Amino acid sequence: MAALAACTPQDAAPSPVAANAGSEVPSATPSATTPSAVATEAAPVEPVATGTASSDLPSSTAPSHSVAPQHSLNDPTSPWVVVNKHRPLAPQDFVPADLVQPGVRLAVSGEAALLNSTTAAAAEKMFGAAASESVILTLASGYRSYSTQVATYNGYVASTGQAAADRASARPGHSEHQTGWSFDIGDGAGACSFQPCFAEQPAAVWAKANAHKFGFVIRYPWMFHETTGYFYESWHLRYIGVEAATDMAARGIATLEEYFGLEAAPDYL
Ligand code: DAL
Ligand code: ZN
Repeated sequence: MAALAACTPQDAAPSPVAANAGSEVPSATPSATTPSAVATEAAPVEPVATGTASSDLPSSTAPSHSVAPQHSLNDPTSPWVVVNKHRPLAPQDFVPADLVQPGVRLAVSGEAALLNSTTAAAAEKMFGAAASESVILTLASGYRSYSTQVATYNGYVASTGQAAADRASARPGHSEHQTGWSFDIGDGAGACSFQPCFAEQPAAVWAKANAHKFGFVIRYPWMFHETTGYFYESWHLRYIGVEAATDMAARGIATLEEYFGLEAAPDYL
């Protein structure tokens, strides 16, 4: 906790107010998509620690880390699709054809409680495994349509300004949540949802240590914002398959950009 707090500038972002408000807004909560609701949300964590992680380097400087793609990196139905500030969804209004509600503990309802069928099945296994170790995960935000992302992002811009918004919320057509391959977790106790302190909650600690066994990666890791474009989101998980996620963990590769040999995407082009 001390380290995290020390790495959180006092003036970098608004103070969290609502314990269960999220920097990623569940679409099933209408009020949460409004700018006023977003204004009370937790802040992105702006790292101030010094030092350069190897994965911050563009792929061209770290070719030995990348793997030969076994699945498309462009097709949003592919488990290896990479969506970032340089790689918008195509088509922009993509909607997964196989959205389902997983049989897990839900902190949301409606659209936000949906995932694509592969991700839903993997989530059920992971949530079950966590529960068997007395760690309760909740699904805090899953699928998000293009139109929901419009409201979410615009709310961020209105409340924090565009620069801060772009470190925490994807512009419409650039969010992994629209693919159905990603979701945000909450903790069973409901503490620190979407806030920097979530990283210290049992759900986040467990997920960081175990998510790869179920095919998930922490998509926006600590101190890799110059690669991913976003500050640390200890709650945002992305499915890529057990083999790839385990391989990334074993090799200590933190980002999809590096793993797949793609350029860093700190900002929009
Ligand atoms: N918070 C992530 C980057 C999203 O908006 O998809
Ligand atoms: Zn997310």
